[in-house]
Amino acid sequence: MDERTLDEIIGRYPYPSGRTLGILREVQIKEKHIPMDTLKLVSEKLDTPLSDLFSLVTFYSFFSLKPVGEHLITVCMGTPCHVKGAEKILQSIQEHLGLSGDSSDGKYLETTPDNKFTVEIARCFGACSMAPVLHVDGDLYGYVTPEKIPEILTRYGWKR
Ligand code: FES
Repeated sequence: MDERTLDEIIGRYPYPSGRTLGILREVQIKEKHIPMDTLKLVSEKLDTPLSDLFSLVTFYSFFSLKPVGEHLITVCMGTPCHVKGAEKILQSIQEHLGLSGDSSDGKYLETTPDNKFTVEIARCFGACSMAPVLHVDGDLYGYVTPEKIPEILTRYGWKR
């Protein structure tokens, strides 16, 4: 993000309360992630240690330090979804989108080379009765099976 745009955003937050989160939230929405250069600039301009900002953006799942694609797929890996096959759902998505990576450490964030899809995992959307579930751009899909993945992806422009 260029400095002028960041200054405009910062200018909208004159009061300390909620300032940092508000600014970072706007950066996230505009850039679809928090670029490290921008985080450093925010650190300088707010006179806040970079390590504090880094802790903030890694704590809240809303923020991402990696670029996010046009469509964001979030697969629930909470226990009920896991028991009902969430791992197979993630594998199916990976196979169809040509993504790799491993979620065994409880983290996953991968983007297709064309920047069309980003896939991440999360814990419980509060829709356990429909397990396994996933979100695409905030649309909730329940009772998902690996066989349903191509149909879901097609709705967001995926082509075989
Ligand atoms: S565990 Fe997946 S919605 Fe609750």
